[in-house]
Amino acid sequence: MKALLLSGGSGTRLRPITHTSAKQLVPVANKPVLFYGLEAIAESGVTEVGIIVGDTAEEIRQAVGDGSAFGLHVTYLPQEAPLGLAHAVLTAREFLGDDDFVMYLGDNFIVGGITALVDAFRAERPDARILLTKVPNPTAFGVAELDPAGRVIGLEEKPARPKSELALVGVYLFTPAVHEAVRAIQPSARGELEITDAIQWLIDTGRDVRSTTISGYWKDTGNVTDMLEVNRSVLETLERRIDGTVDDDSEIIGRVRIEPGAKVTGSRIVGPVVVGADTVITDSYVGPFTSIAGDCRIEDSEIEYSIMLRDSSMSGVRRVEASLIGRNVEVTPAPRKPAAHRFVLGDHSKVQIAS
Ligand code: G1P
Repeated sequence: MKALLLSGGSGTRLRPITHTSAKQLVPVANKPVLFYGLEAIAESGVTEVGIIVGDTAEEIRQAVGDGSAFGLHVTYLPQEAPLGLAHAVLTAREFLGDDDFVMYLGDNFIVGGITALVDAFRAERPDARILLTKVPNPTAFGVAELDPAGRVIGLEEKPARPKSELALVGVYLFTPAVHEAVRAIQPSARGELEITDAIQWLIDTGRDVRSTTISGYWKDTGNVTDMLEVNRSVLETLERRIDGTVDDDSEIIGRVRIEPGAKVTGSRIVGPVVVGADTVITDSYVGPFTSIAGDCRIEDSEIEYSIMLRDSSMSGVRRVEASLIGRNVEVTPAPRKPAAHRFVLGDHSKVQIAS
């Protein structure tokens, strides 16, 4: 069995962060979203992984390398353009050969991994197995209709009037039967070859398509609210570990991970919180569900329920919450006069001020 990990796409919903970074590399608890997928694949016993890459190929290659850090063997498969998930399967035809495979969307986050699913698939080998989860906004997903016995009878991509609340999760298990399906379908209204249509084709031609319903799932950590929420859920599982230095004037409460080289002085940190390597926190408060990446500086500030990426700093600012702060960002108070906000904001930035 092989894995096909999709890591193309432009991440429009996460702008401006994704102007300069692949959406799959945005960190959750200081680890890129994509790495959780790679770890889940490795854990399930699959070692041959093809990664579909697009415009951000170089960045993905740099982060993942040959996959050996994950115990995987990675082959990069450039997709000429983001023409759909079924098009990605077409692109990977040669790599996949006649093996069964798990297709994993690199921006999806699944709590609890995929090992049980892969095991069940290996044992039963239906033509395809899809994952479903109940969502409040099915129109943003592929949506499944099940018969009373729980068999999948119909799938629709982003329907205006969904037939159920069951959304397709971005993990699919296939036998080689899918190759015929992806060749048989036509592009959708959005101009993409939809994997949803390919699976519908399998159903229509009498193949065995089964489903598993799961909980603990986020669709592409594609917006800030979801990012913060998935970050919270991962931090919930954090174990306390202090490798950096903490002075006597600081208080570290609960599950806090302070990575090597980080320095905390005169501060109060209430977990779960992760503080990245070589970050310096001085005279500040860091509250629950916050991930501060490496090489950041927080001085005389307060922050909670937020994510701060590498090389950013905050000084004399209180209080920041529910925020996603990119790389190399500086947040400081304006000089006392005039009492005004001063911004240098990238395209697609969002700012909410308290006064
Ligand atoms: C894709 C699929 C959709 C699925 C979703 C899960 O949508 O087409 O059926 O529910 O992934 O993340 P996209 O992210 O391309 O809009």
